[in-house]
Amino acid sequence: MNVLVIGNGGREHAILLALRKSPKVDKLYCMKGNAGTAQVAEDIDVDYMNAEAVKAYALAHPEIDYYVVTPDDPLAIGIVDVLEGIGKRCFGPRKNSAIIEASKAFAKDLMKKYNIPTAKSATFDNYGDALEYVRAQGAPIVLKADGLALGKGVLICKTLKEAEEGLKEIMLDKAFGKAGEKIVIEECMRGLKYDPGEEVSVLAFTDGKTIVPMITSCDHKRVDDGDRGLNTGGMGTFAPCPFWSKELEEEVKNKIMIPTMNAMNAEGRTFKGCLYFGLMRTPDGMKVVEYNSRFGDPETQVVLPMLKTDLMEIFEAVTDERLSDIDIQWDDGACVCVVLASGGYPVHYRKGEEITIGDVGDCTVIHAGTAIKDGRLVTNGGRVLGVVAKGGDIEEARRKAYAAVKNIHWNGMHYRTDIGVKYRQG
Ligand code: AMP
Ligand code: GLY
Repeated sequence: MNVLVIGNGGREHAILLALRKSPKVDKLYCMKGNAGTAQVAEDIDVDYMNAEAVKAYALAHPEIDYYVVTPDDPLAIGIVDVLEGIGKRCFGPRKNSAIIEASKAFAKDLMKKYNIPTAKSATFDNYGDALEYVRAQGAPIVLKADGLALGKGVLICKTLKEAEEGLKEIMLDKAFGKAGEKIVIEECMRGLKYDPGEEVSVLAFTDGKTIVPMITSCDHKRVDDGDRGLNTGGMGTFAPCPFWSKELEEEVKNKIMIPTMNAMNAEGRTFKGCLYFGLMRTPDGMKVVEYNSRFGDPETQVVLPMLKTDLMEIFEAVTDERLSDIDIQWDDGACVCVVLASGGYPVHYRKGEEITIGDVGDCTVIHAGTAIKDGRLVTNGGRVLGVVAKGGDIEEARRKAYAAVKNIHWNGMHYRTDIGVKYRQG
């Protein structure tokens, strides 16, 4: 099979590397790709947010048998619908089910209607009513722009003053544009053992009939060590989650995952693809923080290297709705990904810095924001590389990853030194 992956980031590079191991896959393509994906796949220079352009490309290239759509934006505008509409086979949800990520108000209503545990919330499209609600609730409180906002549309407000300012920013100053026309105001959840509360990402394959969780992982969203500084797209991940257990898995399957799959079916929005559950362990049990309609980035970078089963076989089983036939196997041990970012990320940073990569042992260097310019490898984004290491346990994987990081350089390179140390007490 010839397979085309849509997206530009580290997640797409990791998916391509997993697909390359499949005996079913002949040639790989990436729309649009980066300097890393170009080593595995032929890069296709088409704007994947332009549905007409994607359709024209697919019609002109019958040699491509299968499409994998991973970023939130093309899923939200229905690129899968467009491709399926011309008879192409795809991995990824259609527009009417991708809404589970694209609208936080939709996701909260769904959870309320089907009794899926999550933080108490209310949704507003009117500033005055929202302000009144915030004042009645008091702080701490969480404000979320309804729509997609590059992972930046969430404000955790410790004081009422912060919340009032945040509300104005989102609803009046339109800091997140149209994404902030509606706002979800949420109770601030506490963790069972840690402050801020302990979070785990559970990605799951689902064909709408069966839902199968992957190995668990934990992200590090803040830019600096000790969870200080601004929120980012993710500065590093590790798998599996140290506080995960068989009991938690049963709880999450029965109270969250299966009910969510059934709820989407009941709404006529059958979800097929990778459904991502962002969860918090609270004193009242596991609760949903957010849903994503896709593989997480950088979670995918630590989850897929642990997959023993052929990823292409799983993708096809999801498409053909026979996921229950597949026995999905995972490696024992652990995996760590340390993200290397441009200095100044997530605010202002330079592009075009030359990157040198020395000996990385048996680690894998995943590319996110990279490009080739005049034959040289250069930075081309905020998150530039991810160094991925496997080990018998998280500590061993951590050591290997950081040993490799020492041999990678560019001007202004920034990374966290504490990826994989949290939740050690389980
Ligand atoms: P989200 O984009 O919804 O995942 O939110 C970003 C981050 O904000 C999450 O990963 C949590 O760390 C935090 N967060 C979101 N909602 C809540 C909440 N209701 N209570 C506490 N923390 C939250
Ligand atoms: N790592 C979080 C996300 O992919 O949204």
